[in-house]
Amino acid sequence: MKIIMLGAPGAGKGTQAQMIADKYNIPHISTGDIFRANIKNGTELGKKAKEYMDKGLLVPDELTVELLLDRVANEDCKDGYVLDGFPRTIPQADVLDAELTKLGDKVDFAVNVDVPDENIVRRMSGRRACLKCGATYHIEHIPPKQEGICDKCGSELVLRADDAPETVQNRLSVYHEQTQPLIDYYDKKGILRTVDGTKDMKDVFDAIVDILNA
Ligand code: AP5
Ligand code: MG
Repeated sequence: MKIIMLGAPGAGKGTQAQMIADKYNIPHISTGDIFRANIKNGTELGKKAKEYMDKGLLVPDELTVELLLDRVANEDCKDGYVLDGFPRTIPQADVLDAELTKLGDKVDFAVNVDVPDENIVRRMSGRRACLKCGATYHIEHIPPKQEGICDKCGSELVLRADDAPETVQNRLSVYHEQTQPLIDYYDKKGILRTVDGTKDMKDVFDAIVDILNA
């Protein structure tokens, strides 16, 4: 099964994608996590990506597309995957579509996690992220068992560099301008499914499972 997660920054794409990956035993591929790992490790790609990410802007398609296509060509993706944060522009969606068509394949569902902008800024300030394994927590809603430590891998949890309120505002504007058109794009293909992302994370997940199992 090939699934795309759509939604504003902070809508819960990463949280839900990880739960889907665990339940269906497919990889969770987050381009944001891949960039953050590169920044942490000081790679050339990380240095380039950081310039854009810290401002809340999208990393250019030429740095993003190839990286994603390489990743989904891995052996562990042969039974499917859940993409979180890709595609984020119409050109990225077109490339993915063309690549899958070449392989006689397609995306099964684009799941749109719908959360209004008002809720987003509040969520972001409470988020804590593990830069090692990509797990996400929230200090009030989804706290780790031990404060500041990742339940999954034991690494230190951090506030993401792009979660400052001004940067979150930029990310929201960029989302509305460049990524939201993908909702229409996948609706026209008949594979868009929207869930109410303001609900409790477990209820959001149940709604997604109903869609995927339908
Ligand atoms: P990326 O890492 O993808 O960030 P994003 O889209 O801005 O989304 P977030 O990761 O911030 O939010 P999320 O929807 O995953 O929510 P989460 O589950 O964490 O991208 C970062 C940057 O990388 C981009 O700005 C761009 O520069 C670059 N980039 C990445 N991909 C790119 C691409 N394809 N092209 C170009 N550039 C790219 O949840 C948020 C918080 O809410 C957490 O604390 C969570 O615990 C909590 N929460 C989740 N669900 C609930 C719930 N139901 N109720 C209450 N709290 C909840
Ligand atoms: Mg995320």
